[in-house]
Amino acid sequence: MKIVVGSDHAGHALKELIKNLLSKRHIEVVDVGTTSEDSCDYPDFGKMVAEKVSKGEFDRGILVCGTGIGMSIVANRFPGVRAALCNDSYMAQMSRRHNDANVLVMGGRIIGPGLATEITNVWLDTSFEGGRHKERLDKIDIPLSSVG
Ligand code: RB5
Repeated sequence: MKIVVGSDHAGHALKELIKNLLSKRHIEVVDVGTTSEDSCDYPDFGKMVAEKVSKGEFDRGILVCGTGIGMSIVANRFPGVRAALCNDSYMAQMSRRHNDANVLVMGGRIIGPGLATEITNVWLDTSFEGGRHKERLDKIDIPLSSVG
């Protein structure tokens, strides 16, 4: 599995922790930045990660900003990207089982390192259930004009 990660300044510390975790799990990881705690704009990094997942260059992405909200808004504008903001491990588990989330988003100012590690491990280890959930995902990209 190849994972691309990105953050703004508010998510930088947590992103470093996540990169370490991915490396320990022998997962190939590419970091698009940011590279310090200096103030920067989350859309710049959210777009880079989401575009690479959207184009199929990476299997999954992980994004971190202060709350996780900005990164979620950015990433979900890209076709084929299903970004899930997860504040606990149940959300992480369900984002995989029911939503087949391919981008995990966390808030560096919301959760601590222990919880972020648990969330990431659960998210990586949980499979999509398919079936009725696949049919629901297929409806997401149907134009509004064709919905009754
Ligand atoms: C940065 O101050 C903060 O606005 C950003 O990290 C994020 O939380 C936006 O949604």
